[in-house]
Amino acid sequence: MAVEINLKNLKIQAKEEIEKASDLKELDEIFNKYLGKKGELTLILKSLAQLPKAKRARIGSQANELKSFIQAKTIEKKSSFVKTTEDKEEWLDVTAPGKKLSIGHLHPLTLAARNVGEIFESMGFSVVEGPEIENEWYNFDALNIPKDHPARDQWDTFWLRQNEIKNEKLKIKNGRLLLRTHTSPVQVRYMEKNQPPLRIIVPGNVFRHEATDVSHEFQLYQVEGLMSGKEISVSNFKAVIGEFLQRFFRKEVKIRLRPDFFPFTEPSFDVSISCLVCSGKGCRVCKGTGWVEVAGAGMVHPNVFKNVGLNLKDWRGWAFGFGLDRLAMMKYKINDIRLFRSGDLRFLNQF
Ligand code: PHE
Repeated sequence: MAVEINLKNLKIQAKEEIEKASDLKELDEIFNKYLGKKGELTLILKSLAQLPKAKRARIGSQANELKSFIQAKTIEKKSSFVKTTEDKEEWLDVTAPGKKLSIGHLHPLTLAARNVGEIFESMGFSVVEGPEIENEWYNFDALNIPKDHPARDQWDTFWLRQNEIKNEKLKIKNGRLLLRTHTSPVQVRYMEKNQPPLRIIVPGNVFRHEATDVSHEFQLYQVEGLMSGKEISVSNFKAVIGEFLQRFFRKEVKIRLRPDFFPFTEPSFDVSISCLVCSGKGCRVCKGTGWVEVAGAGMVHPNVFKNVGLNLKDWRGWAFGFGLDRLAMMKYKINDIRLFRSGDLRFLNQF
């Protein structure tokens, strides 16, 4: 009876151990434990001869059955090991980090332009656009820059070929075509169609026939601003510009206004900010002065109002023109303006 119980227990135990075996070596050891030379089952099988005849047949068949069971289980387990090694190439590690998809991202100038747009929109400004191919009237004359006036030299201009202008009326009334040298013509275009009070910003490309260096490009990105209403003054301008700069750079920025000259504003000023690279102490970026020029600005000139059919008696206004490249350079600490349009991925991938 004792042997029979032992055989039952052995079966349960052997099955469990074989199933748990983690490699071939372990499986061999388990097999030998039961069916090796001195294995538990081997010993039982050997001892059968000593049993009385009646018992021998019954226990003998149970023991042999267990022997085949262990053999079959071992073979089955062995084949599962072989399979796992074969399957290894298709094996999926769900804990491994995923493959990174390479997706595009925005250009630093686009990022900066969108940021500028968001800040001004939150202050009630609309974002307006104008054409990059402009005519002499909007780019110069309407902005109080007469032909042959030396102020035109301030904007080195890319002129378009005259014989390519098909529209005769355009030729006479609006003069030659050119690549706009600033975004200020959109002031005129907008005020022709919209009455004050108004608040707009105009982001866009402008072009200048200039030699390039670390801080000059022949194509740059400007953001024009125009606010017009009944009681608009320089203090409105300072407040708006101060709020904008602080939010754009996310830190306290000192602003300096100095007298300047633009034919379409009177008075005019140049807007500088305390250098963010050296906190105003003086460095290469600010050429040791502690200040960086970022915009031209001023109160809208009476002649500009007149050219769009408005009267200075009724309206006041201020305008500014930011160089977005400059702002982006300060924000992202870029030391060469030419990097923006170089297409160099080592630069672009940093954004
Ligand atoms: N349009 C000027 C420039 O490109 C900047 C400016 C804009 C100045 C608006 C005054 C008012 O230099």
